[in-house]
Amino acid sequence: MELRANSITVTDHDGNPVEVDGYHVDREDREDSTADKGGYDHFMLKEIAEQPRAVADTLLGRVLADGRLNLDEARPALEELHTVEKIVIIACGTSHHAGLIARYAIEHWCRLPCEVEVAGEFRYRDSILDRRTLVIAISQSGESTDTLMAVRHARAQGAKVLAICNVEGSPIPRESDGVLYTYAGPEVGVAATKTFLTQLTMCYLIGLYLAQTREPKSADKIDSVIAQLAAIPEKVEEVLGALDPVRESARSLADAGTVLFLGRHVGYPVALEGALKLKELAYMHAEAFAACEFRHGPIALLEEGLPVVVMVPSPKGHSVLHDRVVSTIQEVRARGARTIVIAEEGDESVRPHSDVLIEIPAVSPLLQPIVSTIPLQMFAYELALAKGNDVDRPRNLTKSVTGE
Ligand code: AGP
Repeated sequence: MELRANSITVTDHDGNPVEVDGYHVDREDREDSTADKGGYDHFMLKEIAEQPRAVADTLLGRVLADGRLNLDEARPALEELHTVEKIVIIACGTSHHAGLIARYAIEHWCRLPCEVEVAGEFRYRDSILDRRTLVIAISQSGESTDTLMAVRHARAQGAKVLAICNVEGSPIPRESDGVLYTYAGPEVGVAATKTFLTQLTMCYLIGLYLAQTREPKSADKIDSVIAQLAAIPEKVEEVLGALDPVRESARSLADAGTVLFLGRHVGYPVALEGALKLKELAYMHAEAFAACEFRHGPIALLEEGLPVVVMVPSPKGHSVLHDRVVSTIQEVRARGARTIVIAEEGDESVRPHSDVLIEIPAVSPLLQPIVSTIPLQMFAYELALAKGNDVDRPRNLTKSVTGE
């Protein structure tokens, strides 16, 4: 498989590949990702490393050379998009976290109300759905029972369901009105990594497509985000090359009892995902909070040496939130906690308050989760290894949760 840096393939109107800045992946290469470790110690490590290509594969054929998006394959659900008045996202676990991030993007870009709910709860609630509701079901395996049942529940009430899925022909896409596949290739590690990044990419594509279709106020801004999304595989590659500090820091924390994660805006679901990865892989108590909620209770947990991972919003994109998070870091550190800070490169304001500083490339603020999640995946991987755990097959877990 060929992955060349500095170019990305988009398609022209005739469906021919055209290279622009970013990554180049030939269409036929989509099929070669095999389910062997390919020289890596673990599937999870391989799958983390595959993320630039996986994200490029999700983008392939969907970003046209003129910057428009092509999601025609999802018809008939997307045919009726102009009538959509509300979006409801249903999913479980990591896929639910992708949905939580998508809500920020969809509401901001499309000005459409968007609800996100864990699939298992959704169908036991009297949710208000009708023909003008677009339900997006996110599932990498396409067979989580809770999500499948929620799809049936939504359709029975007249809503259209669009699936985002990685496994072709699996039950959830089969029972949905339309499907967009993520094309991440097989994911063997039980902990979702590349499928999460590709779900995010697909959610962004849908949000930007809806924004284009519904003629939002600032078309220029949408075009610029699309261009940044098209080039994001290169940023993912950049993050992969700078993970040594996070690996070292994880190794030093093998004896910690608890790790807390804090974030705001899209950084909050990223914090949730970081905590979930740590529970799954390192069997550690890990909790995530919106940093704004910290002083409403969880701050009482702070004690000398407690590791606290903080996701910092972009200083340019979200200056107010950024400054609030920096204050939280100061407060956390003043109480003796150990701060592991994930911040945009060049953000010097956090350096004096960080015990460990992990820098990530600057991207459009809503796209930040694509780059900021990777250090958290590696953090959990390394801690699990340090504890001698089976990273590919963590105890008590299965790759897809079927049955209730
Ligand atoms: C992710 O690391 C977990 N293994 C789990 O939370 C998973 O995301 C969840 O079970 C949903 O699975 P799905 O995407 O296949 O529906």
